[in-house]
Amino acid sequence: MVDRDGAIGVFDSGVGGLSVWREIVRLMPDEHILYLADQARVPYGERARSEVERFTHAGVAWLLSQNAKAVVIACNTASAAALDSLRQRWPEVPIVGMEPAVKPASQHTRTGHVGVLATPGTLQADRFSNLVERFANGVHVHTVMGTGLVRMVEAHQLDGKEVEAQLRAILAPVLEANIDHLVLGCTHFPFLAPALHRVLGDGVQLVDPAPAVARQTQRVLKQAGLLRACKEPGSWHFVTTGGLPRFQNLVTRLIADELTTERPVVFQSLELPDARAGWTDGYNRSVSR
Ligand code: DGL
Repeated sequence: MVDRDGAIGVFDSGVGGLSVWREIVRLMPDEHILYLADQARVPYGERARSEVERFTHAGVAWLLSQNAKAVVIACNTASAAALDSLRQRWPEVPIVGMEPAVKPASQHTRTGHVGVLATPGTLQADRFSNLVERFANGVHVHTVMGTGLVRMVEAHQLDGKEVEAQLRAILAPVLEANIDHLVLGCTHFPFLAPALHRVLGDGVQLVDPAPAVARQTQRVLKQAGLLRACKEPGSWHFVTTGGLPRFQNLVTRLIADELTTERPVVFQSLELPDARAGWTDGYNRSVSR
């Protein structure tokens, strides 16, 4: 039996998924949330697809071993690499993934040019070319690889002269392309929003799919009859495969605004096995639902 009191599992390579997590908790403050950051292996964006797929399976297997009732892959790179095989492996589990918001940006552009800032892993995936083919509708989609930006966010370098200089260098090609929307195709990038606004100017709107992903998560839980019935603040669990003190410090700074309500908050570190092909990752037992 699925436990409606089980947590929503949220997975990312690092702390970027907190930009999705904070939309989920705004919408569903009563839910227990179990957040797993694979910081021992971040960044995913420059790794081989098969490796990212393996790591993501190991992360999701662990979340399910902790009785997660649903899983949100709060990472575009991991979604591009693993969403299909995750859903095949656990067809009974609601799994919500992410993709760059090419569709809304293409619908709303007036200049006919939109930018997509994402990791190489996301931009090189078939999932992304399919997305552009289906939804760009004649709009020019300018892709920009945000190499180095994930590391910056993981180091809590979110603003200041150096960050701006790096963003300016990375975005130089799209700054000349007359874009009016920049799709944030990596969940780490909303944390760079103030610096991005300054570099891009008022004429460019940032498009972050996180609120839509949170709404989709709520819809999916509702449909499956899995929303928590209890109307009291849910517990928040933050788990890393990296070092605990650094993680706790970083998370606390990134979500300071959300940490104001009284509720159980736990930080923990964990070693994840490196799952091999065939997904013999040690958490392979079936989940009874
Ligand atoms: N937050 C991940 C994403 O959305 C970052 C990937 C990485 O670790 O490079 O793509």
